[in-house]
Formats: sequence, C-alpha cells, structure tokens
Amino acid sequence: MAENEDSHGHVHDESHEHSHGEHEHSHEREEMTPEELAQMLANFQKAGKAAASVIKEVPKLVLPGESLLDIAETLEKMVVDAGAKPAFPANISINEIAAHFTPEADNDVIVGERDVVKIDIGAHIDGCIGDMAVTVDLSGEQGKLCEASEAALSAAIACMKPGVSVGKVGEAIEKEITSRGFRPIENLTGHKIEPYLLHAGVGIPNISSSASYELKEGDVFAVEPFASAGSGRVADTSQVEIFALQATPKLRGKYSRELLTHILENYFSLPFAERWLSKLFNSKLTLSTSLRELISSGALHPYPVLRDTGRGLVSQKEHTVLIEHDSAKVLTSV
Ligand code: CO
Repeated sequence: MAENEDSHGHVHDESHEHSHGEHEHSHEREEMTPEELAQMLANFQKAGKAAASVIKEVPKLVLPGESLLDIAETLEKMVVDAGAKPAFPANISINEIAAHFTPEADNDVIVGERDVVKIDIGAHIDGCIGDMAVTVDLSGEQGKLCEASEAALSAAIACMKPGVSVGKVGEAIEKEITSRGFRPIENLTGHKIEPYLLHAGVGIPNISSSASYELKEGDVFAVEPFASAGSGRVADTSQVEIFALQATPKLRGKYSRELLTHILENYFSLPFAERWLSKLFNSKLTLSTSLRELISSGALHPYPVLRDTGRGLVSQKEHTVLIEHDSAKVLTSV
C-alpha cells in the first residue's frame, strides 16, 4: 500500500526522517537480543509468504462480474487462513484509480469486462508486514502498461543493496517506465517497514530523486512502482474508506471513545477500513458520527482514494524486500 507524499507531509519532514530513519531505528536494534531479531526476521518471512500465497490466487478471483466486496472479503479471509492478519484492507483500485480504494460495506460494484485492476494486500504477523500488489489486465490490451511496472520493480530490486540511496532506486524505476512510453507516478512511493509501522518514515520514490537515505543490511522495504498512461500524478478524491490511528486525543462522545479503544486494540497503528467497523454498532449513524469525531479530533489519518489527475490507466506491482549483505531478498514470494 503506497505512501502519498502530499498527504503524508509529516512523515516526510526532514528532521523526522533523520531521527526516525537513523537514530531511533538503530537504537531499537541495539536493544533487541539476537533471539528477538531472529524472531522478527522469521515473522517478516512468514508474513511475506502469506501475502504471496494469497496474491497467487488473484487471477482466479478478479474476473468480470465478480463483486468488489466479495473479492476484498475473500482476500482478507485468505490472509487469515494463511496464518497472518490483514495489515491493511485489501485495496482494489480500478483503471485511473491508482490506490487506496477498498469497497464499502454496502458496495455493489462488479468488475467490468475491460478493467485494469490493481490488487494490493498486506499480511502481518506480530506487526511484521508483507506488502504486495499485482495488476490484472482484463482488457488484454494493457500488456505494455503492466510490463512497465513489472520491469521497474525488477530493476529496482536488482539495484537494492547496502549503501545505495533510495533516490538511485527511484532512478532505476523511472528509467524502465519512461523507456516504455509511460510515466511513473511521482507522488506515490514505496516505504520502509518496521514492526507495526507500514510507513516507517523513509520512502522509495518512483522517480530519480536526491533522497539520500542509504539502504542498510536488515532494512525491510516495500517497493511499488506505478506506471501511468495519464499524468503520472495522483490527487485525492473526496472518498475515504481507509484510516489509521495517529493520535489518542480526549474524546467527548461515549461511542467515539469505544471506537477508539476498538481500533487501538485491534489494529493499533495499522490502516483499517470503515467496512471493518460496520458491525461494531447497531446504527450506521452512530458509526459515522463517531468516526467523524475521531477524524476531526486528529485521532485518525485518512487515506483518500487516489486518482491519476490525467485520468489515465495505471498499473502497479509491489514486493516487500529485505536488504541483505550484498543484495535485496524478495520476502513476498511463495
Ligand atoms: Co506498500
């Protein structure tokens, strides 16, 4: 699940990037025993395998006439059946929608005959996340567009090793996409992953950039090139289905407080869908009122549905990788 640079300004704040990316992280590592570190790596590996085993089934699920709601719920159940938990709601982003759509509880949309469908899922084990995405081209005519994000992902992974800057990885991504006549989406990025932190402060741009963070052995990153036949920029739509807890302010409403507790206990800081909460209260109105208080109080970070501003088709491909001694190992493989 990609990070939108515009709406995550706080995460990309320079001082934050430094303190979080360098010092806090290495500090955490120092405090971990070798056993704890091994356990964390094992969890990342298991979560990656779980995500990959679910993504493998995507071609059988994403077919014309299938409902988006069924697809999302099936994918999320498969993550659980694979021994993990959903790290975020199944994103089903169609055609010019690039990211962050998940169906509402009462969504009745079906997949169209010629849709270009991005499926982006996350599986976690004790907060260690495998994040993976693929594109299904039902039109049969967007092979080049899909190939662009696939080749970009392969090129990115091939150049990832300790000492390489994230800006260099972006350069490799941009080259593969532009050489095929498309645009990389410049304001969506991959992201560093830490336990219970899907977006851990460092991004992997999809374009050449001066971003200077250098990959380190032991880092886990989600890399996710987006190729666009449109403008190569996304903007928020007015629709928001996915949120994540970012603060725990004092709340007035009784139901708002209940909702906050539920989120804290079940998702902690990981993204969740409004759909997941729909059975929590008897009334839809109570849920939407409480959710609105959580948003206005700053408790929740909203992830609006993102659309290519030129309304062009978008493809995406994503893997989660572990930086090893002299290479990057794909964790999201079966
Ligand atoms: Co991601």
